[in-house]
Amino acid sequence: MVSEIQQLKQQALKEIEGVKDASFLEAIWRKFLGRKDGALTRILRGIKDLPEEERPKIGILANKAKEEIETKIKEKKIQVTNYKSQVTRIFDPSLPGKKQEFGHLHPLTQMRYRVADIFSSMGFEILEGPEVETDYYNFEALNIPKGHPARDMWDTFWLRQNEIKNLSQRLTPTAVGEKSKIKNRTGLLLRTHTSPVQIRVMEKRKPPLRVCVIGKCFRHEATDPSHEHTLYQIEGFAVDKKITVANLIYTLRSFLEALFEQEVEIRLRPSYFPFTEPSYEVDMRCLTCGGKGCPACSRTGWVELLGSGMIHPKVYEAVGYPKAIYTGFAFGIGLDRLAMMRYRIDDIRWFHSGDLRFIRQF
Ligand code: PHE
Repeated sequence: MVSEIQQLKQQALKEIEGVKDASFLEAIWRKFLGRKDGALTRILRGIKDLPEEERPKIGILANKAKEEIETKIKEKKIQVTNYKSQVTRIFDPSLPGKKQEFGHLHPLTQMRYRVADIFSSMGFEILEGPEVETDYYNFEALNIPKGHPARDMWDTFWLRQNEIKNLSQRLTPTAVGEKSKIKNRTGLLLRTHTSPVQIRVMEKRKPPLRVCVIGKCFRHEATDPSHEHTLYQIEGFAVDKKITVANLIYTLRSFLEALFEQEVEIRLRPSYFPFTEPSYEVDMRCLTCGGKGCPACSRTGWVELLGSGMIHPKVYEAVGYPKAIYTGFAFGIGLDRLAMMRYRIDDIRWFHSGDLRFIRQF
């Protein structure tokens, strides 16, 4: 009897050892420990018929063997299921690969880099200026005094005194000098154009100057497919002795041809800006229809592109340049507008919509 139990146990353990699939463990369990006809169960059931003195010894031995087999089955079960899930995780070739998502630059940023590249290849410096401006730089120094009707062209967001305080608290330590200046100033606003950077640069430096500024501007106006509260402007200006309108036209045409990678035709119409004299609105022959007239150009054959002109003597006066020595041109182009034309986008509001379906197309 003792050797029979030992033998059964050895056989069971051996069979369990070789198992690779959990479903076989079930069969082994039934074979040895099954309630009805398990081999070991039968022995356990027969103990009561043994001579009295043998019963405890055989009983203990058989129960021990039962426990050992059960434990071994449990261990093996854990082992094979883990193994199986690992194998599935690593090797299942039927699973689709994990897609790596890469970010990319926003269409406006792509356009900004491109424009900056073109202007620097033409010898322009790429500079920046603050988005929160003072009344002085945004208006006064550009010959737009308080109460001047031209201020209506640029309605903006003004900062309240407590907002100015918050802003100065948030300024980084490197801008501490700025901090004290800001504190005592009223009339802070979100700049409506990049033209204040003309003043900031000319105040510090003497001609010859060839500068391009690309930055965010803000307008307090109702939004529609071609108007946004936040937009990017490209400001270009050149100041030296003997700069003329011819330089302006050449610069603009070269820039547009480089940007659109084709020949372009531009025309100048008289316009008005307080900080240029004379001032011009510049149109480009419509690239979509070639000038025949289509919805993209409101059937006129021309698209309005930018404002420009020869820098006004009052501006030179504001920055302290000597009278009648320097001349220069300046222009301001909407970057969003250019991006819309290049990528054929029909609504400026897409840019800040945060809609990934839009962004992923670029
Ligand atoms: N700053 C002007 C605007 O926002 C554009 C402009 C720039 C006009 C430079 C002339 C010269 O409308």
